[in-house]
Amino acid sequence: MSHLLWQKPGVTVNQNIQRFLAGNDIVDDRHLFTFDIQASRAHAEGLHNIGVLTALECRNLCESLTRLDGLFQTGEFILDERFEDAHSAIEAYLIEQHGDTGRKIHTGRSRNDQVLVASRLYLRDALKQLAFHNRKIAEISLQRAESEAMLPLPGYTHMQRAMVSSAGMWWAGWAESFIDDLGLAESSIEWINANPLGSGSGFGVNMPLDREHTTTALEFNRVQVAATYAQLSRGKFELQALAALSQSLLDLRRLAWDLSLFTSAEYSFVTLPSEYTTGSSLMPNKRNPDLIELLRASYAVVAGARTEIESLLSLPSGYHRDLQFSKGPLLRAFHHGLAALALVPDLIDRLQWQPEKMLAAIEPGMFATDCAMELAASGVPFRDAYQQAAKATLPSFGANPEASLKARVSLGSAGNLGLDILKKRLQEFP
Ligand code: ARG
Repeated sequence: MSHLLWQKPGVTVNQNIQRFLAGNDIVDDRHLFTFDIQASRAHAEGLHNIGVLTALECRNLCESLTRLDGLFQTGEFILDERFEDAHSAIEAYLIEQHGDTGRKIHTGRSRNDQVLVASRLYLRDALKQLAFHNRKIAEISLQRAESEAMLPLPGYTHMQRAMVSSAGMWWAGWAESFIDDLGLAESSIEWINANPLGSGSGFGVNMPLDREHTTTALEFNRVQVAATYAQLSRGKFELQALAALSQSLLDLRRLAWDLSLFTSAEYSFVTLPSEYTTGSSLMPNKRNPDLIELLRASYAVVAGARTEIESLLSLPSGYHRDLQFSKGPLLRAFHHGLAALALVPDLIDRLQWQPEKMLAAIEPGMFATDCAMELAASGVPFRDAYQQAAKATLPSFGANPEASLKARVSLGSAGNLGLDILKKRLQEFP
């Protein structure tokens, strides 16, 4: 670590202690590097607007920042042990390129608001990816709901055969759920899309920083006004983003659970494309749905990250180095969670139903509710109809799954899935 921004004469530095303080920063900060550069450019422009940097100085710094970003993307610049973190590396590069001008970039800025703004841009980007995956999953689920509305599937409650359901009803449930998740991702973007840059170490600076400019340049939709709140929001905003992510992964966990049951020989309702299964190292007869299981397990990674960050936030107001540890779990959760969600659209697009197996699992008792409802519709008090239907009588259409589905006409059921309402809602998101 050859570049310590804060090194002063007479201050001794112990390498072991420094390594511990830096922790995983140079690895974690690789995910924030580009965002830090974007924010540094906006900061330089803001400094020019208030006369701290001349137009030429500002242009030189901005050009070097763009160049550094390019070098980073191509792997020619590596964020490694030479630096304490991304912030130090960027400043060191500017000083190396421009001497005194480079030494001006940190005017009015603290690493406290620098890390905040970089992580805020990361969060916004990650939530946009989350929204994209939610939308894709909802779209495919809606398409399949439409074409498979009348494909009979046994419906279970308590894991017991309950009523006739349909593949379309199964899909519509996931569609609506992921539309809600899309809405949550979008509203979380709105919630966190506020500019913390210019709050300094958490108490502002004695300089009229152009916070309006950095807000517009970085496409935030508002300034985070109170300098003290900017610091309070670290971890808090991360938790909101993770809450949005975890809703999607909770849905995915349940969807994966269904698929893991449905692909077992006991159900045999679904077959997966072969690349989504793996073989056993010992048992030659096996194809295992490992991918489905790891999709299911992915929720645990996000839940762990939320707990870790929540535990860290047991702090008084202001900046504390503890907050550095919020980056690891956040990055891990989004990296893993988004990778899991990215696999889902193709998987659900290509899974195949086994209609004869699904039909074979529909037994006469599953029409008892239809029968009771028919009797009730003809004027028999429901409690009496219930008793009569319990004696294994069938509805007028007999043990006919398609007829049972067609007769299910209340909104949201197989005979009236209401997919247009869901499609409209999906289209209304930007
Ligand atoms: N790596 C630090 C973090 O993530 C950067 C901010 C350091 N600030 C400080 N006052 N030591 O929090």
